[in-house]
Amino acid sequence: HVFKLTDYKPTDFVVERIDLTFELDPKATIVVSRVILHRREGVGTDVPLVLDGDELTLDSLLIDGMEIDASLYDATPDSLTIRELPESAPFEITVTTTLSPETNTKLMGLYRTSGVYCTQCESEGFRRITYFYDRPDVLTVYTVTIIAAKDDAKHLLSNGNFLGGGNYDEGRHFAAWFDPHPKPAYLFALVGGDLGLVEDTFTTMSGREVALKIYVEHGKEPRAAYAMDALKRSMKWDEDVYGREYDLDIFQIVAVSDFNMGAMENKGLNVFNDKYVLADPETAADADYANIEAIIAHEYFHNWTGNRITCRDWFQLCLKEGLTVYRDHAFSADQRSAPVKRIAEIRLLKAHQFPEDAGPLAHPVRPETYREINNFYTATVYEKGSEVVRMIRTILGVEDFRKGMDLYFERHDGDAATIEDFLACFAEASGRDLKQFALWYSQAGTPSVSVSSEWNETKKTFKVTLEQSLAPTPGQSRKALMHIPLAYGLILPDGTEFEGQPTGGEASDGVFHLTKRKQTFSFSNVPGRPVVSINRGFSAPVNIAMEQSPEDLAHISRHESDGVARWQALNDYATRHLVAASRLARDGRNLMPAGDLADVLIATAKDDTLEPAFRAQALALPAESDIAREIGSNIDPDAIHTAREAVLAEVARAGQEVFTTLAASAPKGAYSPDAAAAGQRALAGISMSYASIAEATAERAKAAFNAADNMTVLAQALQVLAHQFPGSDETREALETFRTRYADNPLVLDKWYSIQAMAPGAETCERVEELLASPVFDHTNPNRMRSLVGAFTAGNPTGFNRADGAGYRLLARQVVEIDGRNPQLAARLLTAMRSWRSLEPGRQEQARLALLSIRDAGKLSADVSDIVERMLAA
Ligand code: ARG
Ligand code: ZN
Repeated sequence: HVFKLTDYKPTDFVVERIDLTFELDPKATIVVSRVILHRREGVGTDVPLVLDGDELTLDSLLIDGMEIDASLYDATPDSLTIRELPESAPFEITVTTTLSPETNTKLMGLYRTSGVYCTQCESEGFRRITYFYDRPDVLTVYTVTIIAAKDDAKHLLSNGNFLGGGNYDEGRHFAAWFDPHPKPAYLFALVGGDLGLVEDTFTTMSGREVALKIYVEHGKEPRAAYAMDALKRSMKWDEDVYGREYDLDIFQIVAVSDFNMGAMENKGLNVFNDKYVLADPETAADADYANIEAIIAHEYFHNWTGNRITCRDWFQLCLKEGLTVYRDHAFSADQRSAPVKRIAEIRLLKAHQFPEDAGPLAHPVRPETYREINNFYTATVYEKGSEVVRMIRTILGVEDFRKGMDLYFERHDGDAATIEDFLACFAEASGRDLKQFALWYSQAGTPSVSVSSEWNETKKTFKVTLEQSLAPTPGQSRKALMHIPLAYGLILPDGTEFEGQPTGGEASDGVFHLTKRKQTFSFSNVPGRPVVSINRGFSAPVNIAMEQSPEDLAHISRHESDGVARWQALNDYATRHLVAASRLARDGRNLMPAGDLADVLIATAKDDTLEPAFRAQALALPAESDIAREIGSNIDPDAIHTAREAVLAEVARAGQEVFTTLAASAPKGAYSPDAAAAGQRALAGISMSYASIAEATAERAKAAFNAADNMTVLAQALQVLAHQFPGSDETREALETFRTRYADNPLVLDKWYSIQAMAPGAETCERVEELLASPVFDHTNPNRMRSLVGAFTAGNPTGFNRADGAGYRLLARQVVEIDGRNPQLAARLLTAMRSWRSLEPGRQEQARLALLSIRDAGKLSADVSDIVERMLAA
């Protein structure tokens, strides 16, 4: 079935309230759902009530407390249809279902993980619990009573405020919760289990005290301290920056070890993948701390952007996700270094979203059709969705943007809203017409902007000509012209910036507004030939095509006042070089020297007026996948790898002295996860890696491994060993030490799996098979699978894209096997093949055969068949 945006229709019946009782049991949990409804005005009495289900069996059905004739309803696993209901008066239906949380391997609905009952309802998991209107525009108040054996589930949690609890019957107890805020079913949550608890409080801006509780496995309480700190900072930030206050007496977070995604924003009861809660210096690296901070903030911010204002239907997913990512980005930028955070965002967007937009899975930020909504929790909806909100701020300016947000919160609080509602608030607050801008939500694909310039030495004029284009994407052959806001700077020969305003189109506050196919912006009275720095800070998620000489790029990277733009120039310079080198390597020719690039990189490494985190980012050469994306078609991953390694080695040798000094510059003393210290570790870490490459021995990395007193340094050293010195004694020893030391810490062992899975080269495929076959490897846990199979397929271009197709066959087998248990995870892993059509013909054919083997494997889930068919289409 294909769902269409244009098919939206409100429900025939209106839900007034729901009252749920759960009697928890691993194999036979009894759910009684009492729902009060009335027929929507104007809906005929011949119209039945049709509720959603998924793999349900109905135990009993009562209408207003009475059994009804079996001829008046139909119950199938995926729907309940009831006929002959009252015309106007409200009535109550009582639906009883029985569930088996223990055997629910899809991790949607109610399931059990490490002895803990928990739920995941977004997008359509509630229908696996009881028959209901499982759609985001049906908002109602929930009362929840949970009954469970005391020794099985000590803590019984749900959304909202705690009503009360106590003994129930022999050996069992109960707890009742009431959530006064009407919400859609996808925000429902329940947790039952014997858990460790970390408590704190937060006093809101109006002086209300909120109890904060984080539940983790017993013994792991100390590892939740950072998450608690991040939560309090998030609550404060949303008050300071958006005036948003928390609205219940209690805010709870539960960390579970089997979870399909990062975390879930259920009202007042967030459920987290424990990877994004647990951290201490011994087991978590700096990047883990940064992720925890960002995801805790993200889920908390959803309380307003997602929960108080939710989505009318799932086509509007970016209304809450894009906006909330935008908010969590801004939070992290405030908590850390804004330019360094922005550089990381740009890297991530280009690494994940650009390839999605350029391949068979491309879709608009707001899709217009879907077969399986789970497949739309994508980089496009989340990351590009955030960039679109960021562009609104760029176009409106900070003040009008805030006015628009205030209006949105005021006007739509309690609503299930649409993108049109959202945009109308900004249009009204600013007086701007955002019609053309709205195309960012409906047109898929990454626009291209070609930039050319013309300097007239006698007239002292400078012209910048911009031309936009957008290639066809699946289902969209013709595209309309977009409104692309491009921040720019004109850097004069002396390094200062030209301040004059151009003519030829709208340009304000250093932003060209490209709204036509082609526009020329003209500057006059320019004292000397300027160099144009375009798309500063990545103001628009577009590809820029511009012939810029290495000298001009070096001029920008030396003089740009904007740190992000400085990095962009460096990165463009490095990318250009690597693309050219990869082409030479593919043709079996000698590479050109990288001396100039090396000079710029080494000068940046040495420049201690720049913050260490920035220098580390500058030193990190574009990844093999970045180079592949720039090349675009007929990709030979081995040639790219060869070229990149050669450039790395050249830079390493040229800067050996600098890198050796910097390798020893990590902060001494007690570990602190703060951004400044993390930045110093990043610079020392990448310098250690360059120094090791220059020395061509594993000794330095092994010494760093042995001396490491935190996970950041330890994992970095292990990675250098495994990727640069595979098969060395040092590497073997370090891998073994790591494995034994963390044998009973699965989250840490995930790093061990990932590092090995990402080791370049054809042999890694066999190593991954070997690890998969190990009896200690838990195939049912999503984190394990992502860290081994996901890291190999999405993070190892040479290994996964082995010329003989063994990597693709490995993925195909795993996808089919996982699909039988957990379709969402299987479909997600399969997206690693989304760029298969840009490979050289031999690999393309192997990839195609692997995709066909999945398609023909027999009974596939809707999740996997949707992905496989879109990937094979056209
Ligand atoms: N709303 C969650 C978040 O971004 C993610 C839920 C993902 N759900 C899914 N079916 N994939 O915070
Ligand atoms: Zn989210």
